[in-house]
Amino acid sequence: MPEESEVRGLLASLRVYLEELQESGVDGLPLAGAGTASAKPIPDSAQPNPLVGAENRESLEEIRAELGDCRRCQLGKTRTSLVFGVGNPQARLVFVGEAPGRDEDLQGEPFVGEAGQLLNRIITRMGLKREDVYICNVLKCRPPGNRNPELPEIERCGPFMLRQVKSIAPEVIVALGTFAAQTLLGTKAPISKLRGHFHDYHGIPLMPTFHPSFLLHNKKDTSKFWDVWDDMVKVLKKLDMSVPDVKRKE
Ligand code: URA
Repeated sequence: MPEESEVRGLLASLRVYLEELQESGVDGLPLAGAGTASAKPIPDSAQPNPLVGAENRESLEEIRAELGDCRRCQLGKTRTSLVFGVGNPQARLVFVGEAPGRDEDLQGEPFVGEAGQLLNRIITRMGLKREDVYICNVLKCRPPGNRNPELPEIERCGPFMLRQVKSIAPEVIVALGTFAAQTLLGTKAPISKLRGHFHDYHGIPLMPTFHPSFLLHNKKDTSKFWDVWDDMVKVLKKLDMSVPDVKRKE
């Protein structure tokens, strides 16, 4: 049996860890075995191997056609629309979010709700247009009640997102929020630790940043907005694009 002092020490460390998770936008943890955010990278082998040369790459239309009226997981039964992705098929920059929400499920387009409006503002601030970039999610269908994605859903849907990324072959990817960042990078590290640095995703530099919904839930904490802006400045520099002058109010 552990000593009482040991147990207290463990509980104190656990509390610090949970507070850190909460601060980074995690609002729930999976039950053992239930599996939400995957710590396993999305397998590359699941589907045809899109060859790297542009002439051999599969098109987004081909990937969409293969998804069809997808029923590969239980979300096929509850969704209104399958939300594939939107934007420039030759985008230099791809944004990847978690999964469609209510507005996206109804309209069939990613990031069209409140979080999407904020993402649009971020894109505009970067000197870009929504049509210049490509936007998609790890999951193509809305989890009922916006619950966390489950492992079988990620395993069935994730490979299609990877194929979209390979088809577009962007120069930079931005992973929006804890779930997308952890799933793409196959890690459980908190977003507060992942953001601000480029990581490698199948040879493409990937910048994790806070999810627009997290910013909306923490409107008073303007430092998080500036963290996202700092991340986007790094993305623009990586793309050799000019960085708009944005004044910070202290
Ligand atoms: N949040 C996401 O992660 N994706 C969307 O498309 C909308 C909200």
